[in-house]
Amino acid sequence: MGELPTTFDEWVDNFGDWQKMVGFDPAWIGDFDLSIKFDWERAGEVIEFGDYEGRKKWERSLQIPHQNIRDGLLSMITVQGDTEFASVEQQKHLLESAPSDYDRYAAARIMAEEQRHGWQMCYLLMTYFGQQGAREAQKLLERNAQEGSRLLGAFNRPMPHWLDFFCYTMFVDRDGKFQLGMLSTSSFKPLAASMGPMLKEESFHLGTGANGLRRIIKAGVIPLDMLQRYFNKWVSTAHDLFGTDSSSAAEWAYVWGIKGRWDERAKLESGQEVFKTSLNEESRQHYHDEIVAEVDKMNGLLPEGTPPLYVAHENFNRDIGDYANKRYMVDGNAFEGSDEKWANYTSEFLPTSQDEEDLKELFKQEWVEHRAPTRMMIESGIGQIKA
Ligand SMILES: [Fe+2]
Ligand SMILES: [Fe+2]
Repeated sequence: MGELPTTFDEWVDNFGDWQKMVGFDPAWIGDFDLSIKFDWERAGEVIEFGDYEGRKKWERSLQIPHQNIRDGLLSMITVQGDTEFASVEQQKHLLESAPSDYDRYAAARIMAEEQRHGWQMCYLLMTYFGQQGAREAQKLLERNAQEGSRLLGAFNRPMPHWLDFFCYTMFVDRDGKFQLGMLSTSSFKPLAASMGPMLKEESFHLGTGANGLRRIIKAGVIPLDMLQRYFNKWVSTAHDLFGTDSSSAAEWAYVWGIKGRWDERAKLESGQEVFKTSLNEESRQHYHDEIVAEVDKMNGLLPEGTPPLYVAHENFNRDIGDYANKRYMVDGNAFEGSDEKWANYTSEFLPTSQDEEDLKELFKQEWVEHRAPTRMMIESGIGQIKA
């Protein structure tokens, strides 16, 4: 491990080394401001749920009542930060193959924002968690998605091309939105206050994904069964990101007030009962419902009589939770049949090496509806696009 930073400024110097290591040219950020942003107002004053409900939110780590709560927070902030830097490592190479300047701008802006999110998490680690925090902040610059050493599986998965990118921003960044939302009511005020600005930026990422997929459907070049296979790949990956079923970690996080349910404030207001032993299942269900609605909207773009695109059931292709590594079909039913039949099934419903080959040819066509960059985009310098 590199030398431990003792201040956030020292950490920022090491961040520059990380950019060099992953080959991210700082010029691609243009005029984007990598800085720390808080929305203290939205963070709230009083702990909103769990055993400490009604007490003042913790503003410094010494106010956190137990070491295990502190450790829980440290680990959540670390995991969040890890995903931010990992996604840049996964996406960086895509700038070269952007289908248009508009897309190059969008990808570069997303990567700039993910780096800011990583800064934000490292600022919390460096400012509030002593040497242990500094160690984690440094390690965030040392694990690497290309080496498969990032903390969560989805963030080690290669993203070879732009079809993956649009599915990823649509489905995986949207998991990010849910995670940030659940942290936005945290009893640790600096964490809660970090979420407002991050959520605002995150919505651009989701929008890029959703629009990209709509543009793909409109262009009509990518066969819909192939598009569906890429949906299935990233939807199941995103389902995994909500964690194990009956998670005790999620239960503790709730009891400690450090991570709430999705839409916690609305749920509290309407007096919705808390099911502490199935919190991950609950947030995954909210996420699932949201993407079902999004994909339904996309179906409105399909020519009449075309079989609709869909969202695979939560049981399909899972690596984490009760359904991990089990044979379930996209409709959620158990698969019955031989190994060979299962292999055939997965090649029908998940991307194949043939798809990857075919995409190389398809990408030579106008496979995604063209968009021209605005003047604002060009002038920002983000993505280094020229008029
Ligand atoms: Fe992010
Ligand atoms: Fe994002």
